[in-house]
Amino acid sequence: MRWDERQLALLREIGVRLWLTPDAVVTGAPVAQATAPAHVTPTAPTGPTLAAPPEAPTAQPERADSVASMDWPALREAAAGCTACALCEGRHEPVFGVGNPRAHWMIVGEAPGDAEDAQGEPFVGKAGQLLDNMLQAIGLTRGKAAPAQQVYIAHAVKCRPPGNRIPSAAELARCEAYLIRQVQLVQPRIILALGRFAPQLLGSTEPGGKLRGRVHDYHGVPVIVSYGPAHLLRNPEDKARAWDDLCLAAQTLESALPQ
Ligand code: URA
Repeated sequence: MRWDERQLALLREIGVRLWLTPDAVVTGAPVAQATAPAHVTPTAPTGPTLAAPPEAPTAQPERADSVASMDWPALREAAAGCTACALCEGRHEPVFGVGNPRAHWMIVGEAPGDAEDAQGEPFVGKAGQLLDNMLQAIGLTRGKAAPAQQVYIAHAVKCRPPGNRIPSAAELARCEAYLIRQVQLVQPRIILALGRFAPQLLGSTEPGGKLRGRVHDYHGVPVIVSYGPAHLLRNPEDKARAWDDLCLAAQTLESALPQ
């Protein structure tokens, strides 16, 4: 993989250091979408686990059936008025999602925090800035752009859990119909799942940290699991791994394109 100077500057800013041979640096080239993993600085051998608390999910088949045929306005309206779990009691507003509705990349976070709940937008504040910088380093943005460059960002759970706690399995299950419908409408080519909810999303009993580094499937879309940006702010030693995850996602998308 070759990197231009602007990408390297962005990565330094983010706190990701790459071990590069001189021919891996391209002078004066524009930022392009990354296509292969970079070699990153070695870090501690294992990251913290990202597991969700065990709890029996409570699916709601009838509600899921009606959500499954909604268009964007109906889906947004249904989420805005949703009272399927107790999280609706403490929310300011559900954080539905932002970005290009035909984006090739979909970023799925765990659940909104306080700032996201107040602003109605996923990943704002310092965590959002870090996510934006990492996306920018790989040629992506949440700002206006073509579907190949502009991401769609949503959460697995649309309402803020009190005290920013991890959403319960039941909360995730009750909210999932919205996410599934968003995935069906966006039809992304790759999903990046950021946070501790990944095992439940993927129906896995493995801890989230163990799901990293390989390609999973969510309703027919390849999924790469990584750390949430808030985790990376608290654990900067994991930024190199998160960068590897982003590069794996880019490589997975690229290899699925017709040659
Ligand atoms: N963590 C998330 O999963 N989403 C946010 O919007 C912020 C933190």
